[in-house]
Amino acid sequence: MSKREWSRRDVLRQCLAVGAIIVPAGWGEAEVLHAWFDAQAALQPTAHVEMGPFYKKRAPSTTKLRAAADPGMPLTVRGRVITTNGESVGGAKLEIWQANHGGLYDLEGFHYRAALSVPPTGVYAFESVMPGHYPARVARHVHYFVTAAGQTPLSTQLYFSTDEVFGGDPDKNYSKDPLITSRTLVRPVTLAGQPESATASVEFELVMEKA
Ligand SMILES: [Fe+2]
Repeated sequence: MSKREWSRRDVLRQCLAVGAIIVPAGWGEAEVLHAWFDAQAALQPTAHVEMGPFYKKRAPSTTKLRAAADPGMPLTVRGRVITTNGESVGGAKLEIWQANHGGLYDLEGFHYRAALSVPPTGVYAFESVMPGHYPARVARHVHYFVTAAGQTPLSTQLYFSTDEVFGGDPDKNYSKDPLITSRTLVRPVTLAGQPESATASVEFELVMEKA
């Protein structure tokens, strides 16, 4: 048994001894170790979703995708790029693209397209608007393509729990869009401000898998 596992067991014994953790009757150390440590040992990599036809290379390096006069609800997206062990992936390159409020992609230029360099903390954020619906897709979404040294490139999409297509119940309805490969990609939306000028924010963590 490795030193790390002994250390976890020691911590667990101490927690049990002082009542810092309370477990169901009948559980032994093995059950608690499994429930508490093993279950947290590895995060699931973020689900893959296809890149689709609207990706463009050489997007500008900016965190501000939204111009001041743009229609649509202002949207801030924040998150971290991490490994399945929860370590920050500093130096990751994060490419994002989305339709505008009216559901249109900018195919001529780079509006609502950006490339972000992720700092050592793994934290990223950008300012945009809530993307519109467009005919070929069911759900509103933001595309991501994330690359980093030593990690498998990740193509995925962010969805919004408030999207009309989920009818208020994304648990039940997320697969109404056949491209949504995992419920975990549909994120809660936090509204702030006044009703007539509300802004939305969403957290979206990106978990990369070792190459
Ligand atoms: Fe799309």
